[in-house]
Amino acid sequence: ISVSRQHRTAYHFQPPKNWINDPNGPMYYNGIYHLFYQYNPKGSVWGNIVWAHSISKDLINWRTLEPALYPSKPFDKFGCWSGSATIVPGKGPVILYTGVVDDKQTQVQCYAVPEDLNDPLLRKWVKPDKFNPILVANKGVNGSAFRDPTTAWWSKDGHWKILVGSRRKRRGIAYLYRSKDFMTWVQAKHPIHSKGETGMWECPDFYPVLVNGNQGLETSEGGNHVKHVFKNSLDMTRFDYYTVGTYFEDKDRYVPDNTSVDGWGGLRYDYGNFYASKSFFDPSKNRRILWGWANESDTKEDDVRKGWAGIQAIPRTVWLDSTGRQLVQWPVEELNNLRGKEVNMNSQKLQKGDYVEVKGITAAQADVEVTFSFASLDKAETYDPKWVNAQDLCAQKGSKLQGGVGPFGLLTLASQNLEEFTPVFFRIFKGPVKHVVLLCSDATSSSLKSNMYKPSFAGFVDVDLATNKKLSLRSLIDHSVVESFGEGGKTNILSRVYPQLAVANQGHLFVFNNGTEPISVENLKAWSMKPADIK
Ligand code: FRU
Repeated sequence: ISVSRQHRTAYHFQPPKNWINDPNGPMYYNGIYHLFYQYNPKGSVWGNIVWAHSISKDLINWRTLEPALYPSKPFDKFGCWSGSATIVPGKGPVILYTGVVDDKQTQVQCYAVPEDLNDPLLRKWVKPDKFNPILVANKGVNGSAFRDPTTAWWSKDGHWKILVGSRRKRRGIAYLYRSKDFMTWVQAKHPIHSKGETGMWECPDFYPVLVNGNQGLETSEGGNHVKHVFKNSLDMTRFDYYTVGTYFEDKDRYVPDNTSVDGWGGLRYDYGNFYASKSFFDPSKNRRILWGWANESDTKEDDVRKGWAGIQAIPRTVWLDSTGRQLVQWPVEELNNLRGKEVNMNSQKLQKGDYVEVKGITAAQADVEVTFSFASLDKAETYDPKWVNAQDLCAQKGSKLQGGVGPFGLLTLASQNLEEFTPVFFRIFKGPVKHVVLLCSDATSSSLKSNMYKPSFAGFVDVDLATNKKLSLRSLIDHSVVESFGEGGKTNILSRVYPQLAVANQGHLFVFNNGTEPISVENLKAWSMKPADIK
């Protein structure tokens, strides 16, 4: 295979060529899933942005249609930027998106509706002139930082409500707008939420989750049985942060719980390469699904050479953890239909320094689920309370530096003699109160090629090991993607890597332990993955 194709994904969504970024307006309508996304029809770097449009019956296999939105009006002449879809009862879907009106990147909000609601694929979208643009920046609002409208929700007070991301100087802001008819929108006196020193809030998302249970909720649902999730994409770090909290509907204010840190130190959907995400409610299976964009980690020049850049992460079902402190995410169940040949490993002991190959699958295109266990936590290294940043800690310790309990986990996309590998692993520390569990996905050794971004992505896992000395991990390996879910989806990390040796059938998978405490691979299942049908 050619160099430009060897890192293409087999089952993560990507178009045949060119640049993509944010997922836009995901929805389920009349039996079909729609995914729109930021797309450059003219090349593999950002620019000339349109809303590309793909449809699916199962969220895994896709057909691409003509772009749904492209610059065609004075209010979106310089780009059709991110936005959301709302299904208005009795009327059908409406798209709200950001139009860029000039070369100074002045932003306004616009709407579009299907040209023909009887077209089952909703191929053509129109932008009625009567009300467009529906919003321009009011006095006091920064018109070049005013974008990415959310899905609307319907409030008991008889209004539709949406949020638009913004900033004032360094304060991140989500403005709230109300409408009775979906066309005329009025800015609320107060933003729904804001936070100093966080910079531009791109792609806000705001939705209810069940306090008890993993079913998803329609975006307008409220009441005592729900909490709300507020997410924004922080431009300055390129991560998606969220809090869990309460929405006071009468005041139109959102207040994060005291268990949720607001801002930089907060929870992330993913501790790796996952940005500008957006969720939607899927009424066909009563679940909320989360899409997120994973950018390339190679250079712009490489992207030009490859002719493509950007993928979407596997859509994830998302719900509130039973602790109420965080969300849990898991790849949509439809992904399992791509599982082919399966191999197993059971009760495999791993002493310090051991690594054992998982043979018999296409390791560069695979799905792996594994549970590790250990008899004791006594040997865990002491946690230094200065280590607040998981990524720094992972960079400092890596997978090669011997530990007490861990590092142990998977070596993905490994070359036969380990010149290249991307380890996904746990490392356990003895903290002042309880044990601290670190999950790392370390790209440092992922490729012999230099000059690219090889971060040691990592996050902490909120788990109580005192009662249950086990940790589970799932990794979706797809040529240049390692997308991992720790402890059933509590801490997740997507890495983009570009091996030179561990490509195609030269890719290998190992389990390893580099800590003094012996580790048992209680149970490992790995599958060769069939390619998704994406045309
Ligand atoms: C996030 C973002 C959005 C914007 C879009 C432009 O990645 O910058 O804020 O609408 O991408 O493509």
